[in-house]
Amino acid sequence: MITAKELRQKYIDFFKAKGHTPIPSASLMPENDPSTLFVTAGMHPLIPYLMGEKHPAGTRLVDVQKCIRTGDIDEVGDNRHLTFFEMLGNWSLGDYFKREAIEWSFEFLTDKEKGLGLDPKRLYVTVFKGEGNIPRDEEAILVWQEVFAKVGMSVTVAGEDEIIKDEVRIIPLGAEDNFWIAGASGPCGGDTEMFYDTRPEEGKAGGKFADLVNSYRLMEIWNDVFMEFNKKPDGTVEKLQQQNVDTGMGVERTVVTLNGLGNVFETELFQPILKKIEELSGKKYEDAEDFAAHPSVPLMRDSSPQGGEQKKRSMRIIADHLRAAIFIMGDDLGVAPSNVDQGYVVRKLIRRAIRHGRAIGIRENFTDKIAEVVVGSMGDVYPELERNRKFIIENLMAEEEKFTRTLQEGLREFQKLETRNQKLQISNQKSGEKVISGVEAFNLFQSYGFPLELTKELAKENGLEVDEAGFEEEFKKHQELSRTASAGKFKGGLADHSAKVTAYHTATHLLNAALRKVLGEHVYQKGSNITEERLRFDFSHPEKMTAEQIKQVEDLVNEIIQKNVTVECQEMSADEAKAKGAIGVFADKYGEKVKVYSVGGDEVCFSKEICGGPHVGNTKELGHFRIIKEEASSAGIRRIKAILG
Ligand code: ALA
Repeated sequence: MITAKELRQKYIDFFKAKGHTPIPSASLMPENDPSTLFVTAGMHPLIPYLMGEKHPAGTRLVDVQKCIRTGDIDEVGDNRHLTFFEMLGNWSLGDYFKREAIEWSFEFLTDKEKGLGLDPKRLYVTVFKGEGNIPRDEEAILVWQEVFAKVGMSVTVAGEDEIIKDEVRIIPLGAEDNFWIAGASGPCGGDTEMFYDTRPEEGKAGGKFADLVNSYRLMEIWNDVFMEFNKKPDGTVEKLQQQNVDTGMGVERTVVTLNGLGNVFETELFQPILKKIEELSGKKYEDAEDFAAHPSVPLMRDSSPQGGEQKKRSMRIIADHLRAAIFIMGDDLGVAPSNVDQGYVVRKLIRRAIRHGRAIGIRENFTDKIAEVVVGSMGDVYPELERNRKFIIENLMAEEEKFTRTLQEGLREFQKLETRNQKLQISNQKSGEKVISGVEAFNLFQSYGFPLELTKELAKENGLEVDEAGFEEEFKKHQELSRTASAGKFKGGLADHSAKVTAYHTATHLLNAALRKVLGEHVYQKGSNITEERLRFDFSHPEKMTAEQIKQVEDLVNEIIQKNVTVECQEMSADEAKAKGAIGVFADKYGEKVKVYSVGGDEVCFSKEICGGPHVGNTKELGHFRIIKEEASSAGIRRIKAILG
């Protein structure tokens, strides 16, 4: 049995021995990237460096990156989907390319001492078969054949039919499978993916590759991306100035696959959380039959199908969702539950977990108790969880209280509908009047967090019906609206370093420094989000800013801009940066060296901040700075929106 802890350690040690510098996970909240709410892959925080900026820790890096993917949130509870996960990666930033990447991947997977010691006979790989102007990846094929040959295996390449037979181990696939890009634009390239045979006892794998994957016989465990292109927002593809390697190995999935487990919830990452849920609910995770709702308390029940499977699913959802919410809140740029952006996702995750908690009979508030377990078991790998423990617990408790009240209000709202229907029924015997309309059901869902199943169940008990088709219609209408809204979010693509965004980035540093001068040194950056239209900056400050303070901050920033001072970048150790009075998030910064951006040289320095860049060269590029809004973001955190014009 290999644990997640061992896997992380082995991976880091292996690549350290190959000259890679370990770097800590970056924040889950993308910094200065308006195109997406969360970091979704290990490469995401490294985009500027894949595009050619110099990384202070060198050209070979290795890390384990925290990631959040919310696209599959409704699938959580099955065997595979997770909201939060960890991704191991080794990086070449214009250093080695295909040969070393593949040789080291193979060595790490198969070497008994330095690596995982997997049987090479259980490995299959896919490569990019080419598309458009990009030809089939003959180099990757050749290197794979060489490394297999070293262990005495003479392997061949699948044909167009993608059938595995005889000595076939290498399967060329199209762009959909073997060309990697995060979102719509940014650094990208062909890749090669490694698959592990999970059921060798069934005899030698054979047949169509996709069928073997779909039946979970072959599980992908690692992906080496050869990033040599940049896709621009207009869809054109250009060569990057350097050839990079970006690899990704999902920790949870790999641990499951290598240990022959049924699912991620059987790993050491989830066991302590599920134990706690069992303790809190008084139910066993594995029991299939004993699930009984609490008939006297309608809210204790949740969606059908009831019974063991549903209970198990609820427990998984609680574990996954709270783990994700805890990591988002426990980040050094932690975000509290709210109604917008990341805060909305946190709220949704917590509320869903609470509903499922009530459904399996947890009556007391419990989310903070799960947090203790998550922080306790992951705090050594991600020390920010320990640092932000108080923030996590306080926000969970506040959200749980708030949501419990909302659920109770929803119940009262339902009772109103019921009374109305009873009255209608007395005055009008038509059975059609015993219906809760789609709009009403959707309102219960939207405003009070009632899933349709709960409304249906309550309705049934009261001899009413729910217009389900009407609900679905409302639901779809709403979904389309929110999809349009989030499509807007992604329109920039990743790595949008247009001049405007860069200018806002520098303006953000000036604002940060000005706030500290006007309000005091308790001001720390808590979040930043930049679009081509504005900057948004969250910072710690206990009260509303006065009009006068806002004016002072604006004036200070504009004064510096008008001085036409240069913006300088220096590399130094994190300690040196600290000694020089630089501000910024030190804790999660890259190993030894950091970049420090100073506005106005050492002598007349106005702002000195640790940051990956990029920035303008001179403040004269910024234009006039104006604060258009100052408001509360969450407890103790203020938010400023400002524009340059
Ligand atoms: N960026 C690649 C992935 O996330 C490695 O799969």
